[in-house]
Amino acid sequence: MGIAALNPSYGLDCLPMPIHSPWRADFPGIQALAAEGQTYLDSAATAQKPQAMLDALLGYYAGGAANVHRAQHLPGERATRAFEATREKIARWLNAPDAQQIIFTRSATEAFNLLAYGLEQRLQPGDEIVISTLEHHANLLPWQQLALRRQLKLVVLPLDNHGLIDLTHAAQLIGPRTRLLAVSQLSNVLGCWQPLEQLLALAEAQGALTLVDGTQGVVHGRQDMQALGCDFYICSSHKLYGPDGVGLLYGRPQALEQLAHWQFGGEMLLHTDYSNASFRPAPLGFEAGTPPIASVIALGASLDYLSNLDASAVSAHETALHSELLTGLRQRQDIRLLGSPTVALASFVVDGVHNADLAHLLTEQGIAVRAGHHCAMPLLQGLGLSGAIRVSLGLYNDADDLQRFFSALDQALELLQ
Ligand code: ALA
Repeated sequence: MGIAALNPSYGLDCLPMPIHSPWRADFPGIQALAAEGQTYLDSAATAQKPQAMLDALLGYYAGGAANVHRAQHLPGERATRAFEATREKIARWLNAPDAQQIIFTRSATEAFNLLAYGLEQRLQPGDEIVISTLEHHANLLPWQQLALRRQLKLVVLPLDNHGLIDLTHAAQLIGPRTRLLAVSQLSNVLGCWQPLEQLLALAEAQGALTLVDGTQGVVHGRQDMQALGCDFYICSSHKLYGPDGVGLLYGRPQALEQLAHWQFGGEMLLHTDYSNASFRPAPLGFEAGTPPIASVIALGASLDYLSNLDASAVSAHETALHSELLTGLRQRQDIRLLGSPTVALASFVVDGVHNADLAHLLTEQGIAVRAGHHCAMPLLQGLGLSGAIRVSLGLYNDADDLQRFFSALDQALELLQ
């Protein structure tokens, strides 16, 4: 018996078996796009959704919509129970001690703005907010604008050559005036895990609050709020295979207590008359107005779906596919990777080729990747680039997707070079 028969992963020429996703069939969107000739490699922008989520969305509307936290009637009570069940599922997913530490917002961006407005009155001129060079605009602009409103100093931590926040500089720049450290867990451009443990320790030693942007990180492996120990953590549903229109803000109780209310309206209050009002604590005090009920309930279905997957199989699949992506890019001349990506995505430029021209030719061949500044304009500018191409992976992608991407890339480069 030859080696090929003993090990089905290897053919006679010892080539590894193509990477196949056992979960692809669960995502009608990826199949619909494929039927249209589209290869979807932009999951860092938004992910396709499992059938279970689509069923939950339809189930809520088709079964009778009702508002939450307001009515005693049966549909209202049923909607409230399903809505609050998602809060519990998120708390379990993030290992948060209590579901009351999870606030629903309408996007991750809204959660950053909630914090900027919620903390504003606690900050004095000259106080410092520390971010890093690689932050997404959502974790830059709310702080930049807050700094302008309150005469604060926005401190920007530099990166090392691998795209990691430089800890030596961080130790010098995080100081006694630091009131908040707000950094990304996993850059949406560079695709590497940041040294959060050390960074959070530096901020905590100065008595500063800590915020982690988990919008990319939460998708790739389970994140544990109690182990991480940050004061706030923000992520969004739509990247985590859930519907759009929902952001999540986790906070430690003592950190949530520091937030001033920022949006005012129905359901967030305890009592009001015409001249004054008192407000609920978190989470409901920060969920003014009718929330995205259907989306929150459907996010619960996405989390159920993800919870039932074999986490180690998902992680092995993502690692194998990512490694194939990096190998293919590194084999091609003139391609320059940005940073040292370790998970889920890779951004690159091609010497002598404008990223918009390359993006155009990839689009024409049905390859859906993101091009441009990736909502991290200062990072790209600092690298001397006007833009880059980013390939990002979801658990439904497979080797055929990468093969189609690479053959489209080769054709495009033949034309452009
Ligand atoms: N933040 C998302 C991205 O990186 C939209 O594409």
